[in-house]
Amino acid sequence: TMRGEMKKLVATVVDTGSRKVFEKEMKSFLALHDRYSNEQSKHQQIDWSQFGIPTKEHIVSYDNLPQIHDAKVLNKLAILKLNGGSGISMGMSGPINALEVKDGQTFLDLTIQQVSHLNTTHGSDVPLLLMTSFNTHDDTIRVVKKYTSNPLRIVTFNQSRYPKILKDTGLPLPQSADDDGENRAKWYSPGHGDAYCALAQSGVLDQLVSEGREYLFVSNSDNLGATVDLSILQYMVDRQADFIMEVTDKTKADMKGGTLVDHDNTLRLLEAAQIPLEHAEDFKSVSMVKTLNTNNLWINLEALKRIMDKGGMDLDIIVNHEVNDDGQSITQLETAAGAAIAYFDDSLAIAVPRTRFLPVKTCSDLLLIRSDLHSLSPQTGHLVRNKARMFEALPVITLGQGFKNVHDFQRRFKTTPSILELDHLSVSGDVYFGRNVTLKGTVIVVANDGQRIDIPDGCILENRLISGNFTM
Ligand code: UTP
Repeated sequence: TMRGEMKKLVATVVDTGSRKVFEKEMKSFLALHDRYSNEQSKHQQIDWSQFGIPTKEHIVSYDNLPQIHDAKVLNKLAILKLNGGSGISMGMSGPINALEVKDGQTFLDLTIQQVSHLNTTHGSDVPLLLMTSFNTHDDTIRVVKKYTSNPLRIVTFNQSRYPKILKDTGLPLPQSADDDGENRAKWYSPGHGDAYCALAQSGVLDQLVSEGREYLFVSNSDNLGATVDLSILQYMVDRQADFIMEVTDKTKADMKGGTLVDHDNTLRLLEAAQIPLEHAEDFKSVSMVKTLNTNNLWINLEALKRIMDKGGMDLDIIVNHEVNDDGQSITQLETAAGAAIAYFDDSLAIAVPRTRFLPVKTCSDLLLIRSDLHSLSPQTGHLVRNKARMFEALPVITLGQGFKNVHDFQRRFKTTPSILELDHLSVSGDVYFGRNVTLKGTVIVVANDGQRIDIPDGCILENRLISGNFTM
């Protein structure tokens, strides 16, 4: 049984102190696993018909927030960046956070700059918390070390490491606590929903509450648009809300990401992986599902502490399946931070502009950020949209397999092209871009098998389809 296997795993740790810590971790894994088995045996599935679109009362428009605020509330705020996810989908071994995103600076450098600037502007001392995982801890510490002389208080804490499950047997893949496999492929970090347990177990939650912090602003570490917004914070204070989720309009390009729904007059987060197969298309459609969770969350710390002291939350389980390099089918049980919205009494959503949600999950996202569509404001570390772009929407960029890995991506673009007037770019096959290329309108580049296309330095492509033997 899983329980027996867990005992065996725990017994592989020799040192008593480390064994205690590991045992605790495996206990919380077992609890999640038990809940999953239970739901499975009951064939518990989400009942789509029970969900509705959230009412106006639950979703406030950012434009309607009062613009008056008192920066004193910053003394009650802490910022948490979710930094436990690895950049595996972009072919990186460490965290995306350590990737140079713009002007030689990493996401983490920019975040630190943003928070430092906030503090110097308002004379506040908002601390920056970083949740790391076994995948990202060392790389994160390396970047943080550069800032030891910076007055900003940076607190790191580690989230859990759970064993992957073999689908065939239902048993754990690793055979011992230090059985890592190649590329640490036998363990995983169980999603950002783990943040609440990690905050409580590390003692960070108690520490924050005891020093008088009342509000926590949580966001994805790769989202440079997630800066502290004083109007939102003030609104949270005035309305005495316990939990605010920033949502934004879903566009056709947003295939992933959760949405907010109404369930019996309370808000709930639904993730694509939770949707019954027959409703998968409804979930993708922009007319049915209008809001997208940005994962920018504002949480009342006392309310969170009350909930955690009472035993925490059974966040909806997101089941992820994958086939590993050895061809084995693997199951991973995860949870999402936004699902906590169902557990707070006074929760609401704020519909924010898209500029507050700039995720970098793929190299296409990276291209958007690195390009002339965005620039960095030198003091604040904020990413600023280029006003010279005529349309609100960002270009839709589809890059082929050869661009999936960040190292290949960097090899294939000598410099980042100018895409200020681009609507749509689609690239497939063995394609290389020279220096200072400009792309406008719709550009499609297709290199067939065995072919290679080189876009020359300085080339301007406007509404072009390029395939076969390309000559300028
Ligand atoms: P992901 O990139 O895994 O999220 O992580 P996603 O599922 O596409 O996005 P959402 O959930 O729909 O918004 C989002 C953020 O959460 C962190 C990552 O580092 C990233 O900043 N994360 C993810 C963790 O901190 N721990 C995890 O176990 C997973």
